[in-house]
Amino acid sequence: MRPLQNPERPVRPLPGEPDCAYCDNMRFLVDATGALQPCEHCGVARQRKVRSLESFSSRSGTALTQFFGNFSVVDSDPRQSRVLELCKEAATDFAHVPEGQWLVIWGERGSGKSHLCAAVANHLIGAGTPALFITMPDLIAALKQAMELQSNTEQETYSGRLSLFKTAPVLILDDLGAETSSPWSDGVLFEILDYRYRNRIATMIASNVAPDRFDPRIASRMQDKAFCTVLQNSANDYRKRPLSDR
Ligand SMILES: Nc1ncnc2c1ncn2[C@@H]1O[C@H](COP(=O)(O)OP(=O)(O)OP(=O)(O)O)[C@@H](O)[C@H]1O
Ligand SMILES: [Mg+2]
Ligand SMILES: [Zn+2]
Repeated sequence: MRPLQNPERPVRPLPGEPDCAYCDNMRFLVDATGALQPCEHCGVARQRKVRSLESFSSRSGTALTQFFGNFSVVDSDPRQSRVLELCKEAATDFAHVPEGQWLVIWGERGSGKSHLCAAVANHLIGAGTPALFITMPDLIAALKQAMELQSNTEQETYSGRLSLFKTAPVLILDDLGAETSSPWSDGVLFEILDYRYRNRIATMIASNVAPDRFDPRIASRMQDKAFCTVLQNSANDYRKRPLSDR
């Protein structure tokens, strides 16, 4: 890998960022194929990617307080406990090694799907991995907003945002199926998931809807046993638990 050619060398690091001799503070290196790769020596490109994904994230409010550590698997019914254990285990495995994996958790309201999505996102982002936690309605809204903005900056154009959702190193897509569906939104969803499927990019999906009830092309990709884990979270609604049992 070689540094990017920069006619105005040397580039000063931004305040708070390291002075990196490997990339000449360009934060990217050019690999053998001519493609740009984040400079791993200074890690700044990675941090910037984390921050740029965070600007679209649905990771706010209670999601910031949801971790594996406060996800309870205790239930008076041992079958419910087992289901919660399996879901927590699968989410923990995904959070530790997301590369090349898909995890789909579907089930009833209040069964803890969003809590596990947030726990995965908090773990990954805490470890500096660029991960995007976004609900499907927020993703659609971000794309609609981009169409209205008609801006030129890469992050604000429709194609810039779509590309971000297609290529985020880890995408945690919550509430799939909760968006107001239209032929356009169905097309967007297919484009994002198909790209991630073909390139085996880490993706976690949570939904109230069983995989087989999606468009058959999406349903089939979600259930590829080669690298997708599909779990039904059949736990009871945690929101209805008496406070003394939580
Ligand atoms: N096993 C659990 N341990 C601790 N808290 C839980 C557990 N399951 C759910 N909760 C809490 O209950 C609330 C509802 O859970 P959550 O939002 O994850 O449900 P959901 O499955 O995403 O529901 P919906 O389908 O309505 O989106 C949250 O505050 C969450 O932290
Ligand atoms: Mg939810
Ligand atoms: Zn560097």
